[in-house]
Amino acid sequence: MFRNCSLLVLFAAIIKAVNAVTFIVPNAAGAGGYKYAPLDPAPVGISFEFFAFPSYFTNVSSTNQCLANWKDLTGVWPPIRIGGTTQDRAQYDPSTSAFVVYTVANAADAPSTLTFGPSFMTLAANYQGSVVVGLNRGKNNIANTISAAKVAVSQMSNLLAIELGNEPEYYASAGHPITSGGWSPTTDAASQNNWAVSIGSAVDRMPIIQAGNSNDASGSPLTWGAAELIATQNTTVKQYVKTYAHHNYPGGTVTSLMSHSGISTNLHKFDGDIAAALRQGKPYVFGETNSVSGGGAASVSPTFGAALWTMDYVLRTTYSNISRTYFHHGTVGNCQYCFWGRYSMGAPYYGGYAATAFLAKGSYLTALDDGKTNYAAYVSFDASRAPLRALLYNSDYFSGSGTRSSQAFVLEGITGNSVRAKRLTAASAMSRQDQGQLPTFGGQAFVDGDCTITGTEMYETATVAGGQATFTLKASEALVVYLQ
Ligand SMILES: *[C@@H]1O[C@H](CO)[C@@H](O)[C@H](O)[C@H]1NC(C)=O
Ligand SMILES: *[C@@H]1O[C@H](CO)[C@@H](O)[C@H](O)[C@H]1NC(C)=O
Ligand SMILES: *[C@@H]1O[C@H](CO)[C@@H](O)[C@H](O)[C@H]1NC(C)=O
Repeated sequence: MFRNCSLLVLFAAIIKAVNAVTFIVPNAAGAGGYKYAPLDPAPVGISFEFFAFPSYFTNVSSTNQCLANWKDLTGVWPPIRIGGTTQDRAQYDPSTSAFVVYTVANAADAPSTLTFGPSFMTLAANYQGSVVVGLNRGKNNIANTISAAKVAVSQMSNLLAIELGNEPEYYASAGHPITSGGWSPTTDAASQNNWAVSIGSAVDRMPIIQAGNSNDASGSPLTWGAAELIATQNTTVKQYVKTYAHHNYPGGTVTSLMSHSGISTNLHKFDGDIAAALRQGKPYVFGETNSVSGGGAASVSPTFGAALWTMDYVLRTTYSNISRTYFHHGTVGNCQYCFWGRYSMGAPYYGGYAATAFLAKGSYLTALDDGKTNYAAYVSFDASRAPLRALLYNSDYFSGSGTRSSQAFVLEGITGNSVRAKRLTAASAMSRQDQGQLPTFGGQAFVDGDCTITGTEMYETATVAGGQATFTLKASEALVVYLQ
């Protein structure tokens, strides 16, 4: 009886060892035949819907603290972008003292038209990180956009770039005046290029334009994309372009969204555009992104599975040479994918936090896996190219019922006798903080309503023997391993 039992245990241990996924940590950035991405000081950014930006910064207590928590990790404030559909509904009004002026029938609605005053730019200027401001092209009022751009440039020492229009592929269906003579990728590109030169020369700054800003990812090469746009640009236009940007909302179910192979496949659509931008010596960014378009899906976007998506997605975008990824935040109080709101934290904030903790103060990133399975492993490196941290991700879906499986990850090539790690976990992939199931990272959570960190910071320790350590991750969990 006992004998059989221990045989079973032994058998289980063998199965587990056989099924372990093994990764070799390179001893320096550049080594081992892997691909390496250079790291921006803060690759994880936040996008704020144009009309809602003042509300986030004046009337939502969590905003400053949620951003400050990441600054505490990286040493720099996260980059932000202000824009979205309502940037093409907004007109500058130099005479208003208000940040924004609009009326809506219901507080959950976005305005169909609005104005903003110079104080909008002053508020943006107060932010201590870099800011991209999205201005209107749809209304075809270039004089008004030039006036707004001049205020942005004169007020904002933190201004990184200006967008001229948001998701222009939808302009025709939205009935925007600029489409009156017909609208296609070609006419949009000509319009973008003329506006880039007009606005750039009016504010007398180059490079200043974040170009592109489409969301549609159909076609190969993309029908509305950086490669398509670059092919239409002469040297003068290119001198004004600071960055090329695209938007992305992968959508799907929690299971498909958080799947590591799904994330990798989704991002390969952008490889051609990223390469095209880098060939021009310009960064490529995701100017606006989140889990599911239109503010998110109630059954998907607020879950811990979406937090794991956020984490893995932003690491894969960064690994793909997307310099910065701005996660979109829409109408306060009507936003399923938001990382925080007035009253509650969204689980995805934890994914952004774990990714930021892993990348903080790093100079290079590599992925050790090929993106074809559910199991991911990344390594960040410091400025002297030494391994800094590893991040392991088990993207097997755990619904919360039945047995939670686990997966062993073996890391080889580690130095020292032991390593510390912080775990990103929750009761299941369906856990939601607003339903009382708080995720934790290293044992800590974020407080509803103010985003302060709570709980005792907890590291787990793994033994390193022969340069090798084994980590066990339950389905729907991630682990940040501190290699220094
Ligand atoms: C701040 O939020 C509260 C609660 O939703 C709202 O009633 C109030 O109008 C907001 N104030 C401003 C200035 O947006
Ligand atoms: C380059 O393109 C811009 C925008 O279309 C145009 O205004 C400018 O005249 C062009 N310059 C040259 C030298 O062709
Ligand atoms: C990212 O760019 C670097 C050059 O900076 C290149 O070596 C690397 O292969 C690129 N990564 C990918 C995934 O293409």
